[in-house]
Amino acid sequence: MSQNANKKLYIKTWGCQMNSYDSNRMADILRPLGYKCVDSPVDADMVILNTCHIREKATDKVFSDLGRIRPHKDTNKDMLIAVAGCVAQAEGDYILERAPYVDMVFGPQTYHELPEMVAKATGAYGKNRIVNTDFPSESKFDFLPEEQNVQGAAAFLSIQEGCDKFCTFCVVPYTRGAEYSRSVNEVLNEAHNLVQRGAKEITLLGQNVNAFHGEGPDGTVWGLGRLIRAVAEIDGLERIRYTTSHPRDMDDDLIDTHRDIHKLMPFLHLPVQSGSDGILEAMNRKHTGDDYRRIVDKLRAARPDLALSSDFIVGFPGETEEDFQETLRLVRDVGYASAYSFKYSARPGTPGANMKNLVRDNVADERLARLQALINEQQRAFNARSAGIVMPVLFDRKGKKSGQLLGRSPWNQSVYANGPDRLLNQIIDVKVTEGFDNSLTGIIETSEALSKTV
Ligand code: SAH
Ligand code: SF4
Ligand code: F3S
Repeated sequence: MSQNANKKLYIKTWGCQMNSYDSNRMADILRPLGYKCVDSPVDADMVILNTCHIREKATDKVFSDLGRIRPHKDTNKDMLIAVAGCVAQAEGDYILERAPYVDMVFGPQTYHELPEMVAKATGAYGKNRIVNTDFPSESKFDFLPEEQNVQGAAAFLSIQEGCDKFCTFCVVPYTRGAEYSRSVNEVLNEAHNLVQRGAKEITLLGQNVNAFHGEGPDGTVWGLGRLIRAVAEIDGLERIRYTTSHPRDMDDDLIDTHRDIHKLMPFLHLPVQSGSDGILEAMNRKHTGDDYRRIVDKLRAARPDLALSSDFIVGFPGETEEDFQETLRLVRDVGYASAYSFKYSARPGTPGANMKNLVRDNVADERLARLQALINEQQRAFNARSAGIVMPVLFDRKGKKSGQLLGRSPWNQSVYANGPDRLLNQIIDVKVTEGFDNSLTGIIETSEALSKTV
Protein backbone atom coordinates (compact mmCIF):
# COMPACT_ATOMS: atom_id res chain seq x y z
CA MET A 1 0.00 0.00 0.00
CA SER A 2 1.27 3.49 -0.73
CA GLN A 3 2.29 5.73 2.15
CA ASN A 4 -0.41 8.26 1.35
CA ALA A 5 -3.32 5.89 0.97
CA ASN A 6 -6.31 6.74 3.10
CA LYS A 7 -6.19 4.13 5.81
CA LYS A 8 -8.65 3.81 8.63
CA LEU A 9 -7.40 3.65 12.20
CA TYR A 10 -9.67 2.64 15.08
CA ILE A 11 -8.31 3.17 18.61
CA LYS A 12 -10.17 2.02 21.71
CA THR A 13 -8.86 3.41 25.01
CA TRP A 14 -9.27 2.20 28.59
CA GLY A 15 -7.73 3.44 31.82
CA CYS A 16 -6.31 6.74 32.95
CA GLN A 17 -5.98 10.09 31.19
CA MET A 18 -2.41 9.24 30.30
CA ASN A 19 -3.72 6.42 28.16
CA SER A 20 -6.09 8.85 26.41
CA TYR A 21 -3.18 11.20 25.85
CA ASP A 22 -1.09 8.32 24.47
CA SER A 23 -3.90 7.30 22.11
CA ASN A 24 -3.90 10.81 20.64
CA ARG A 25 -0.14 10.70 20.24
CA MET A 26 -0.34 7.31 18.49
CA ALA A 27 -2.85 8.84 16.08
CA ASP A 28 -0.42 11.75 15.53
CA ILE A 29 2.50 9.49 14.69
CA LEU A 30 0.43 7.29 12.37
CA ARG A 31 -1.15 10.18 10.46
CA PRO A 32 1.87 10.74 8.18
CA LEU A 33 1.60 7.06 7.20
CA GLY A 34 -1.90 7.77 5.86
CA TYR A 35 -3.96 6.62 8.85
CA LYS A 36 -7.07 8.60 9.77
CA CYS A 37 -9.10 7.93 12.93
CA VAL A 38 -12.54 6.34 12.58
CA ASP A 39 -15.23 5.51 15.16
CA SER A 40 -15.70 1.82 14.43
CA PRO A 41 -13.52 -1.23 13.86
CA VAL A 42 -15.64 -2.23 10.83
CA ASP A 43 -13.50 -1.80 7.68
CA ALA A 44 -10.61 -0.44 9.73
CA ASP A 45 -7.11 -1.05 8.36
CA MET A 46 -5.68 -0.97 11.84
CA VAL A 47 -7.23 -1.50 15.27
CA ILE A 48 -5.35 -0.51 18.43
CA LEU A 49 -6.67 -1.53 21.84
CA ASN A 50 -4.97 0.77 24.36
CA THR A 51 -5.40 -1.18 27.57
CA CYS A 52 -5.34 -0.71 31.36
CA HIS A 53 -4.10 -3.27 33.89
CA ILE A 54 -4.93 -1.48 37.13
CA ARG A 55 -7.66 -3.82 38.39
CA GLU A 56 -8.66 -7.43 37.75
CA LYS A 57 -10.41 -8.72 34.67
CA ALA A 58 -8.36 -6.27 32.57
CA THR A 59 -6.86 -9.10 30.54
CA ASP A 60 -10.24 -10.84 30.19
CA LYS A 61 -11.78 -7.62 28.87
CA VAL A 62 -9.04 -7.34 26.25
CA PHE A 63 -9.58 -10.91 25.07
CA SER A 64 -13.35 -10.45 24.83
CA ASP A 65 -12.84 -7.29 22.79
CA LEU A 66 -10.34 -9.07 20.58
CA GLY A 67 -12.95 -11.79 20.07
CA ARG A 68 -15.41 -9.20 18.82
CA ILE A 69 -12.87 -7.62 16.47
CA ARG A 70 -11.59 -10.88 15.02
CA PRO A 71 -14.56 -11.46 12.61
CA HIS A 72 -13.77 -8.09 10.96
CA LYS A 73 -10.33 -9.42 10.16
CA ASP A 74 -11.90 -12.49 8.52
CA THR A 75 -13.52 -10.18 5.96
CA ASN A 76 -10.54 -7.84 5.75
CA LYS A 77 -7.39 -9.97 5.79
CA ASP A 78 -5.05 -6.97 5.75
CA MET A 79 -6.45 -5.54 8.96
CA LEU A 80 -3.72 -5.03 11.56
CA ILE A 81 -4.74 -5.77 15.14
CA ALA A 82 -2.60 -4.26 17.89
CA VAL A 83 -2.72 -4.36 21.68
CA ALA A 84 -1.00 -1.42 23.39
CA GLY A 85 -0.94 0.00 26.91
CA CYS A 86 -0.46 -1.59 30.29
CA VAL A 87 -1.95 -5.05 29.63
CA ALA A 88 0.34 -5.30 26.60
CA GLN A 89 3.30 -4.43 28.80
CA ALA A 90 2.33 -6.99 31.44
CA GLU A 91 1.12 -9.84 29.22
CA GLY A 92 3.00 -9.34 25.94
CA ASP A 93 3.91 -12.87 24.85
CA TYR A 94 0.82 -14.42 26.37
CA ILE A 95 -1.42 -12.24 24.18
CA LEU A 96 0.40 -13.27 20.99
CA GLU A 97 0.20 -16.91 22.04
CA ARG A 98 -3.46 -16.90 22.97
CA ALA A 99 -4.68 -14.71 20.10
CA PRO A 100 -2.87 -15.78 16.93
CA TYR A 101 -4.70 -13.14 14.87
CA VAL A 102 -3.08 -10.31 16.85
CA ASP A 103 -0.27 -8.72 14.81
CA MET A 104 1.32 -6.35 17.28
CA VAL A 105 1.69 -6.08 21.05
CA PHE A 106 3.61 -3.11 22.41
CA GLY A 107 4.06 -1.32 25.72
CA PRO A 108 3.58 2.35 26.65
CA GLN A 109 7.23 3.35 26.24
CA THR A 110 7.52 2.22 22.61
CA TYR A 111 4.94 4.37 20.80
CA HIS A 112 7.56 6.43 18.99
CA GLU A 113 8.68 3.18 17.31
CA LEU A 114 5.22 2.64 15.77
CA PRO A 115 6.14 3.47 12.15
CA GLU A 116 8.90 0.88 12.24
CA MET A 117 6.66 -1.69 13.95
CA VAL A 118 3.90 -1.10 11.37
CA ALA A 119 6.41 -1.50 8.53
CA LYS A 120 7.53 -4.84 9.96
CA ALA A 121 4.00 -6.03 10.59
CA THR A 122 2.64 -5.02 7.17
CA GLY A 123 5.32 -6.89 5.35
CA ALA A 124 7.58 -4.14 4.06
CA TYR A 125 10.45 -6.28 5.38
CA GLY A 126 8.53 -9.57 5.24
CA LYS A 127 5.50 -10.03 7.47
CA ASN A 128 6.24 -10.30 11.19
CA ARG A 129 4.30 -10.44 14.41
CA ILE A 130 5.59 -7.86 16.83
CA VAL A 131 6.00 -7.94 20.56
CA ASN A 132 7.74 -4.89 21.97
CA THR A 133 7.69 -4.45 25.73
CA ASP A 134 11.11 -2.85 26.09
CA PHE A 135 11.82 0.18 28.19
CA PRO A 136 14.01 1.95 25.61
CA SER A 137 16.83 4.12 26.92
CA GLU A 138 15.58 7.10 24.90
CA SER A 139 12.28 8.76 25.80
CA LYS A 140 9.35 8.40 23.40
CA PHE A 141 8.66 12.11 23.95
CA ASP A 142 11.86 13.01 22.10
CA PHE A 143 10.60 11.27 18.99
CA LEU A 144 6.85 11.73 18.88
CA PRO A 145 5.68 14.48 16.51
CA GLU A 146 4.14 17.71 17.76
CA GLU A 147 0.66 17.27 19.10
CA GLN A 148 -1.77 17.87 16.25
CA ASN A 149 -5.26 16.81 17.10
CA VAL A 150 -6.20 19.16 19.89
CA GLN A 151 -9.95 19.07 20.09
CA GLY A 152 -11.71 21.81 21.92
CA ALA A 153 -10.35 24.12 24.52
CA ALA A 154 -9.48 21.66 27.30
CA ALA A 155 -6.18 19.97 26.46
CA PHE A 156 -3.95 17.43 28.21
CA LEU A 157 -0.18 17.41 28.35
CA SER A 158 1.92 14.53 29.72
CA ILE A 159 4.87 15.90 31.65
CA GLN A 160 5.90 12.90 33.73
CA GLU A 161 5.57 9.15 33.40
CA GLY A 162 6.13 6.06 35.46
CA CYS A 163 6.45 5.63 39.18
CA ASP A 164 9.11 4.67 41.74
CA LYS A 165 6.77 4.56 44.73
CA PHE A 166 5.80 0.87 44.61
CA CYS A 167 2.59 0.95 46.60
CA THR A 168 2.06 -2.71 47.39
CA PHE A 169 -1.26 -2.95 45.50
CA CYS A 170 -0.23 -1.21 42.28
CA VAL A 171 0.98 -2.39 38.86
CA VAL A 172 1.96 1.03 37.50
CA PRO A 173 5.68 0.87 38.42
CA TYR A 174 5.85 -2.40 36.46
CA THR A 175 3.76 -1.40 33.45
CA ARG A 176 5.03 2.16 33.00
CA GLY A 177 8.53 1.80 34.37
CA ALA A 178 10.67 4.20 36.34
CA GLU A 179 9.75 7.78 37.02
CA TYR A 180 10.72 10.07 34.14
CA SER A 181 10.18 13.83 33.77
CA ARG A 182 10.25 15.72 30.49
CA SER A 183 12.40 18.84 30.28
CA VAL A 184 10.85 22.20 31.10
CA ASN A 185 11.52 23.51 27.58
CA GLU A 186 9.79 20.56 26.00
CA VAL A 187 6.75 21.04 28.23
CA LEU A 188 6.62 24.80 27.59
CA ASN A 189 6.94 24.31 23.83
CA GLU A 190 4.12 21.82 23.81
CA ALA A 191 1.98 24.06 26.03
CA HIS A 192 2.54 27.02 23.65
CA ASN A 193 1.64 24.81 20.73
CA LEU A 194 -1.59 23.68 22.44
CA VAL A 195 -2.59 27.27 23.22
CA GLN A 196 -1.90 28.30 19.63
CA ARG A 197 -4.24 25.54 18.54
CA GLY A 198 -7.01 26.85 20.78
CA ALA A 199 -6.45 25.35 24.22
CA LYS A 200 -7.69 27.58 27.07
CA GLU A 201 -7.14 24.98 29.75
CA ILE A 202 -4.23 22.56 30.09
CA THR A 203 -4.17 19.61 32.46
CA LEU A 204 -0.61 18.53 33.20
CA LEU A 205 -0.55 14.74 33.41
CA GLY A 206 1.61 12.16 35.13
CA GLN A 207 1.13 8.92 37.05
CA ASN A 208 2.83 10.84 39.82
CA VAL A 209 2.69 14.31 38.40
CA ASN A 210 3.89 16.20 41.47
CA ALA A 211 7.05 14.09 41.55
CA PHE A 212 7.96 16.09 38.42
CA HIS A 213 11.65 16.99 38.45
CA GLY A 214 12.42 18.18 34.94
CA GLU A 215 15.58 19.86 33.74
CA GLY A 216 15.04 23.61 33.57
CA PRO A 217 16.41 25.93 30.87
CA ASP A 218 18.99 27.06 33.44
CA GLY A 219 20.26 23.49 33.92
CA THR A 220 18.76 23.17 37.42
CA VAL A 221 16.00 20.75 38.33
CA TRP A 222 12.53 22.29 38.45
CA GLY A 223 9.66 20.98 40.56
CA LEU A 224 6.01 21.11 39.58
CA GLY A 225 5.32 24.41 41.36
CA ARG A 226 7.99 26.22 39.37
CA LEU A 227 6.81 24.61 36.15
CA ILE A 228 3.22 25.72 36.77
CA ARG A 229 4.38 29.29 37.38
CA ALA A 230 6.13 29.23 33.99
CA VAL A 231 3.16 27.65 32.19
CA ALA A 232 0.91 30.31 33.73
CA GLU A 233 2.91 32.99 31.87
CA ILE A 234 1.56 31.79 28.52
CA ASP A 235 -0.81 34.40 27.08
CA GLY A 236 -4.17 33.02 26.10
CA LEU A 237 -3.96 30.12 28.55
CA GLU A 238 -6.57 30.67 31.23
CA ARG A 239 -6.71 27.50 33.30
CA ILE A 240 -4.17 25.00 34.60
CA ARG A 241 -4.82 21.69 36.35
CA TYR A 242 -2.62 18.74 37.20
CA THR A 243 -3.25 15.09 38.00
CA THR A 244 -2.52 12.60 39.65
CA SER A 245 -0.64 13.61 42.75
CA HIS A 246 0.87 11.75 45.66
CA PRO A 247 0.61 13.31 49.15
CA ARG A 248 4.34 12.78 49.74
CA ASP A 249 5.27 15.02 46.82
CA MET A 250 3.02 17.90 47.86
CA ASP A 251 5.90 20.25 48.74
CA ASP A 252 5.64 23.78 50.10
CA ASP A 253 6.48 25.40 46.78
CA LEU A 254 3.61 23.56 45.10
CA ILE A 255 1.27 24.52 47.93
CA ASP A 256 2.36 28.16 47.58
CA THR A 257 1.65 27.91 43.85
CA HIS A 258 -1.99 27.23 44.74
CA ARG A 259 -1.93 30.53 46.67
CA ASP A 260 -0.13 32.60 44.04
CA ILE A 261 -1.27 31.40 40.65
CA HIS A 262 -4.80 32.36 39.90
CA LYS A 263 -4.84 30.29 36.70
CA LEU A 264 -4.29 27.14 38.77
CA MET A 265 -7.83 25.86 39.31
CA PRO A 266 -9.10 25.37 42.87
CA PHE A 267 -9.59 21.62 42.54
CA LEU A 268 -7.11 18.91 43.43
CA HIS A 269 -7.24 15.14 43.07
CA LEU A 270 -5.07 13.92 45.95
CA PRO A 271 -5.51 10.17 46.49
CA VAL A 272 -5.11 8.90 50.05
CA GLN A 273 -6.36 5.29 49.58
CA SER A 274 -7.12 4.65 53.28
CA GLY A 275 -7.51 6.53 56.57
CA SER A 276 -5.90 3.79 58.68
CA ASP A 277 -2.22 4.20 59.52
CA GLY A 278 -1.73 0.42 59.68
CA ILE A 279 -3.22 -0.08 56.22
CA LEU A 280 -1.34 2.91 54.82
CA GLU A 281 1.86 1.30 56.07
CA ALA A 282 0.96 -2.08 54.57
CA MET A 283 0.25 -0.26 51.31
CA ASN A 284 3.74 1.33 51.48
CA ARG A 285 2.26 4.80 51.13
CA LYS A 286 4.83 6.16 53.58
CA HIS A 287 2.52 8.70 55.19
CA THR A 288 -0.14 8.61 57.89
CA GLY A 289 -3.73 9.81 57.92
CA ASP A 290 -2.69 12.84 59.97
CA ASP A 291 0.14 13.68 57.52
CA TYR A 292 -2.55 13.83 54.85
CA ARG A 293 -4.84 15.99 57.02
CA ARG A 294 -1.95 18.40 57.61
CA ILE A 295 -1.30 18.71 53.87
CA VAL A 296 -4.98 19.39 53.26
CA ASP A 297 -4.95 22.07 55.95
CA LYS A 298 -1.94 23.76 54.38
CA LEU A 299 -3.52 23.62 50.94
CA ARG A 300 -6.75 25.13 52.21
CA ALA A 301 -4.85 27.85 54.05
CA ALA A 302 -3.15 28.67 50.74
CA ARG A 303 -6.32 28.48 48.67
CA PRO A 304 -9.44 28.62 50.84
CA ASP A 305 -11.86 27.66 48.06
CA LEU A 306 -9.88 24.52 47.13
CA ALA A 307 -12.08 21.46 46.53
CA LEU A 308 -10.58 18.00 46.90
CA SER A 309 -11.10 14.57 45.49
CA SER A 310 -9.38 11.27 46.25
CA ASP A 311 -9.12 7.58 45.44
CA PHE A 312 -9.88 4.95 48.08
CA ILE A 313 -9.28 1.22 48.21
CA VAL A 314 -11.44 -0.85 50.56
CA GLY A 315 -10.79 -4.45 51.54
CA PHE A 316 -6.98 -4.29 51.39
CA PRO A 317 -5.55 -7.45 53.06
CA GLY A 318 -5.74 -7.12 56.84
CA GLU A 319 -8.29 -4.27 56.80
CA THR A 320 -10.47 -4.55 59.92
CA GLU A 321 -13.74 -2.80 60.64
CA GLU A 322 -11.73 -0.38 62.84
CA ASP A 323 -9.38 0.38 59.94
CA PHE A 324 -12.35 1.01 57.72
CA GLN A 325 -13.89 3.31 60.34
CA GLU A 326 -10.65 5.32 60.18
CA THR A 327 -11.20 5.76 56.45
CA LEU A 328 -14.75 7.02 57.05
CA ARG A 329 -13.41 9.37 59.73
CA LEU A 330 -10.83 10.79 57.33
CA VAL A 331 -13.49 11.32 54.65
CA ARG A 332 -15.64 13.19 57.20
CA ASP A 333 -12.66 15.27 58.37
CA VAL A 334 -11.55 16.31 54.90
CA GLY A 335 -14.91 16.70 53.15
CA TYR A 336 -14.59 15.84 49.46
CA ALA A 337 -16.18 17.37 46.38
CA SER A 338 -15.97 13.97 44.70
CA ALA A 339 -13.97 10.74 45.05
CA TYR A 340 -13.43 7.34 43.48
CA SER A 341 -13.54 4.20 45.58
CA PHE A 342 -12.52 0.73 44.55
CA LYS A 343 -12.62 -2.75 46.01
CA TYR A 344 -9.09 -4.08 46.40
CA SER A 345 -8.07 -6.33 43.55
CA ALA A 346 -4.93 -8.48 43.96
CA ARG A 347 -2.62 -7.85 41.01
CA PRO A 348 -0.19 -10.57 39.97
CA GLY A 349 3.43 -9.56 40.54
CA THR A 350 2.70 -6.97 43.24
CA PRO A 351 3.63 -7.54 46.92
CA GLY A 352 -0.06 -7.26 47.86
CA ALA A 353 -0.82 -10.42 45.90
CA ASN A 354 1.14 -12.49 48.47
CA MET A 355 -0.44 -10.93 51.55
CA LYS A 356 -2.51 -12.97 54.00
CA ASN A 357 -5.62 -11.99 55.95
CA LEU A 358 -7.73 -11.40 52.89
CA VAL A 359 -10.95 -9.53 53.43
CA ARG A 360 -14.01 -11.57 52.45
CA ASP A 361 -15.70 -10.38 49.29
CA ASN A 362 -19.06 -9.70 50.88
CA VAL A 363 -17.38 -7.66 53.65
CA ALA A 364 -15.47 -5.59 51.08
CA ASP A 365 -18.66 -5.08 49.04
CA GLU A 366 -20.51 -3.86 52.09
CA ARG A 367 -17.69 -1.46 53.06
CA LEU A 368 -17.52 -0.14 49.52
CA ALA A 369 -21.26 0.59 49.58
CA ARG A 370 -20.96 2.44 52.91
CA LEU A 371 -18.00 4.49 51.71
CA GLN A 372 -19.70 5.33 48.44
CA ALA A 373 -22.85 6.43 50.26
CA LEU A 374 -20.79 8.86 52.36
CA ILE A 375 -18.88 10.17 49.35
CA ASN A 376 -22.10 10.61 47.36
CA GLU A 377 -23.61 12.53 50.23
CA GLN A 378 -20.60 14.87 50.32
CA GLN A 379 -20.61 15.29 46.56
CA ARG A 380 -24.33 16.10 46.53
CA ALA A 381 -23.86 18.64 49.33
CA PHE A 382 -20.90 20.22 47.53
CA ASN A 383 -22.90 20.57 44.31
CA ALA A 384 -25.96 21.86 46.16
CA ARG A 385 -23.82 24.62 47.73
CA SER A 386 -23.04 25.87 44.20
CA ALA A 387 -26.67 26.86 43.57
CA GLY A 388 -27.06 30.61 43.25
CA ILE A 389 -23.36 31.22 42.60
CA VAL A 390 -22.09 32.83 39.40
CA MET A 391 -19.02 30.96 38.16
CA PRO A 392 -16.88 30.91 35.00
CA VAL A 393 -17.51 27.79 32.93
CA LEU A 394 -15.37 26.51 30.10
CA PHE A 395 -17.85 25.08 27.61
CA ASP A 396 -15.96 22.47 25.62
CA ARG A 397 -18.75 20.33 24.20
CA LYS A 398 -22.43 20.18 23.37
CA GLY A 399 -24.88 18.66 25.81
CA LYS A 400 -27.17 15.76 24.88
CA LYS A 401 -30.22 17.98 24.44
CA SER A 402 -30.41 20.37 21.53
CA GLY A 403 -29.29 23.92 22.31
CA GLN A 404 -27.48 22.70 25.41
CA LEU A 405 -23.80 23.25 26.17
CA LEU A 406 -21.68 21.24 28.60
CA GLY A 407 -18.66 22.61 30.39
CA ARG A 408 -16.54 22.52 33.54
CA SER A 409 -16.60 24.77 36.56
CA PRO A 410 -13.31 25.80 38.21
CA TRP A 411 -14.06 23.00 40.72
CA ASN A 412 -14.27 20.43 37.95
CA GLN A 413 -18.05 20.08 38.12
CA SER A 414 -19.96 19.34 34.90
CA VAL A 415 -22.20 22.31 34.11
CA TYR A 416 -25.12 22.28 31.67
CA ALA A 417 -26.60 25.49 30.27
CA ASN A 418 -28.57 26.49 27.20
CA GLY A 419 -26.68 28.65 24.77
CA PRO A 420 -25.61 29.07 21.14
CA ASP A 421 -22.82 26.91 19.69
CA ARG A 422 -20.63 29.94 19.17
CA LEU A 423 -20.01 29.98 22.92
CA LEU A 424 -18.26 26.61 22.64
CA ASN A 425 -14.61 26.65 23.69
CA GLN A 426 -15.09 29.85 25.63
CA ILE A 427 -15.14 30.65 29.32
CA ILE A 428 -18.49 32.20 30.15
CA ASP A 429 -20.09 33.30 33.43
CA VAL A 430 -22.95 31.05 34.44
CA LYS A 431 -25.41 31.47 37.28
CA VAL A 432 -25.93 28.03 38.78
CA THR A 433 -29.60 27.23 39.24
CA GLU A 434 -29.36 23.73 40.72
CA GLY A 435 -26.79 21.22 41.94
CA PHE A 436 -27.40 17.51 41.34
CA ASP A 437 -25.45 14.34 42.29
CA ASN A 438 -23.07 14.56 39.32
CA SER A 439 -23.64 17.91 37.67
CA LEU A 440 -24.93 21.47 37.85
CA THR A 441 -27.39 23.34 35.69
CA GLY A 442 -27.19 27.06 35.12
CA ILE A 443 -28.11 30.08 33.07
CA ILE A 444 -25.60 31.97 31.00
CA GLU A 445 -25.21 35.30 32.76
CA THR A 446 -23.44 37.68 30.48
CA SER A 447 -26.08 39.31 28.33
CA GLU A 448 -23.17 40.42 26.17
CA ALA A 449 -22.28 36.78 25.49
CA LEU A 450 -25.81 36.04 24.33
CA SER A 451 -26.49 39.18 22.32
CA LYS A 452 -23.13 39.33 20.49
CA THR A 453 -23.63 38.66 16.81
CA VAL A 454 -21.58 35.95 15.18
N1 SAH B 1 -0.70 7.43 40.99
C1 SAH B 1 -1.93 7.50 41.63
C2 SAH B 1 -2.89 6.36 41.32
C3 SAH B 1 -2.84 5.61 40.05
S1 SAH B 1 -3.92 4.23 39.92
C4 SAH B 1 -1.68 7.54 43.12
O1 SAH B 1 -0.60 7.34 43.59
O2 SAH B 1 -2.62 7.74 43.87
C5 SAH B 1 -5.52 4.93 40.18
C6 SAH B 1 -6.25 4.37 41.38
O3 SAH B 1 -6.58 3.01 41.17
C7 SAH B 1 -5.43 4.35 42.65
O4 SAH B 1 -5.40 5.58 43.29
C8 SAH B 1 -6.11 3.29 43.46
O5 SAH B 1 -7.14 3.83 44.27
C9 SAH B 1 -6.72 2.37 42.41
N2 SAH B 1 -6.00 1.10 42.37
C10 SAH B 1 -4.73 0.88 41.98
N3 SAH B 1 -4.41 -0.43 42.15
C11 SAH B 1 -5.50 -1.04 42.64
C12 SAH B 1 -5.79 -2.38 43.04
N4 SAH B 1 -4.88 -3.33 42.95
N5 SAH B 1 -7.03 -2.65 43.51
C13 SAH B 1 -7.98 -1.67 43.62
N6 SAH B 1 -7.75 -0.40 43.26
C14 SAH B 1 -6.53 -0.07 42.79
FE1 SF4 C 1 0.67 3.22 41.89
FE2 SF4 C 1 1.44 4.15 44.22
FE3 SF4 C 1 2.77 4.81 42.02
FE4 SF4 C 1 0.33 5.78 42.43
S1 SF4 C 1 2.16 6.17 43.69
S2 SF4 C 1 1.12 4.92 40.54
S3 SF4 C 1 -0.68 4.08 43.44
S4 SF4 C 1 2.64 2.79 42.91
FE1 F3S D 1 -4.29 1.76 33.78
FE2 F3S D 1 -1.83 1.88 32.96
FE3 F3S D 1 -3.17 4.10 33.48
S1 F3S D 1 -2.64 0.38 34.31
S2 F3S D 1 -4.53 3.45 35.09
S3 F3S D 1 -3.62 2.66 31.88
S4 F3S D 1 -1.04 3.70 33.88
